[in-house]
Amino acid sequence: MQFGSIGAHVETRTIGIILNGVTGRMGTNQHLVRSILAIIRQGGIKVSDDLRLMPDPILTGRNPEKLRSLSETHGPPTIGKPLRWTTDLNAPLADKQYQVFFDASGTLQRGPFVEMADKAGKAIYCEKPAAVEATEALRLARLCERAGLKNGVVQDKLWLPGMRKIRMLRQQEFFGKILSVRGEFGYWVFSGQIEDQPAQRPSWNYRKEDGGGIIVDMFCHWRYVIDNLFGPIQSLVACGSTDVPERIAEDGKPYKATADDSAYAIFRLKDGTLCQFNSSWCTRVRRDDLLTIQVDGTRGSCVAGLREAWVQSLSETPKPVWNPDIPQPINFFEGWQKLPNATEYENAFKIQWELFLRHVALDEPFPWTLREGAKGVQLAELGLQSWRERRWLDVPELEGA
Ligand SMILES: NC(=O)c1ccc[n+]([C@@H]2O[C@H](COP(=O)([O-])OP(=O)(O)OC[C@H]3O[C@@H](n4cnc5c(N)ncnc54)[C@H](O)[C@@H]3O)[C@@H](O)[C@H]2O)c1
Repeated sequence: MQFGSIGAHVETRTIGIILNGVTGRMGTNQHLVRSILAIIRQGGIKVSDDLRLMPDPILTGRNPEKLRSLSETHGPPTIGKPLRWTTDLNAPLADKQYQVFFDASGTLQRGPFVEMADKAGKAIYCEKPAAVEATEALRLARLCERAGLKNGVVQDKLWLPGMRKIRMLRQQEFFGKILSVRGEFGYWVFSGQIEDQPAQRPSWNYRKEDGGGIIVDMFCHWRYVIDNLFGPIQSLVACGSTDVPERIAEDGKPYKATADDSAYAIFRLKDGTLCQFNSSWCTRVRRDDLLTIQVDGTRGSCVAGLREAWVQSLSETPKPVWNPDIPQPINFFEGWQKLPNATEYENAFKIQWELFLRHVALDEPFPWTLREGAKGVQLAELGLQSWRERRWLDVPELEGA
């Protein structure tokens, strides 16, 4: 960490950050551009009138052309020069200037990178899932814990405006007793077989052997969303499917889809609430958003999308009568009220990055650790097992440190 000064009274504390694998979809868009560079552009993280935290990134990866292009595209408009980059990860790992190691490479690559960063004594932050198996995710968590390293996993959905609105409604006791929760996630991901409709997600997402599958991908999110918004999960039953058996890869060649691309799950919470989540890359959207979560309570309901949320209280609830012989007299959408934005909502990834950097520099709490992330991997693993064995399974506590 370096100490410098901008202006007469403000101290700027620089935090060197190794950004590994950020040439990918999530790494470039969410982590480099919308988080780290956005923080630099806003003048760092303002901690107080006297102190700012300023990220100082270096890009690492395998492909020099991709790294150079990323550095030259995004460096000059933000810092007036290309961003630093290298294909030799060991160099910044050995450099004390870099305190933080971040990884957004593929899920199966994560373990060896976390090990390297652990040996180098860096604070470690990474994309979810940390691994595809709970024992491996837990092993990585323990590595950090035993070395006393600060660590975290991306749990971005918690800071989506829609999820924050649900949390606010709970805090206001809007729902009464929550009876059930229904999550609908998904959209059509093109197979790439029609040339003018290219696939919009990486092909490894559809190959189990490369860490793909919608259960591994999405159950990690559902775990922390449910734990944080609705309460701890006691048991689950799940079923998946590979709906589109063949897709076209980045190189234009067909490949066999070996991973699940749709999944249907019921999570029973310790307090008895039922949360049902459908996840699919093979569905067409006719709802308010790509993810909607409906919460039904005795005194009111809410449907939240990524940004907006709509509510209907008990007193505004219509009384429909079943009669398919006449056109539906009620426009059900009109009975819901859109919530105003209570505050300014920033990019969810950026918010979590700021919290992690404050944790690193100022020792502020950061509960979204690799261990918490391992709970998501555990849920995914149990989901796959439930599907395989066609039965309900309990969700046990993860082993201790
Ligand atoms: N938080 C979220 O909502 C969210 C959404 C999508 C993906 N993800 C996660 O983010 C990670 C990346 O996903 P993506 O969709 O960006 O995939 P991607 O394939 O677009 O990106 C992966 C990147 O890692 C690089 N890479 C692979 N092996 C590497 C190695 N050995 N060394 C250095 N770089 C390497 C690839 O070249 C690529 O640039 C995955 O773990 C995925 O599960 C999270």
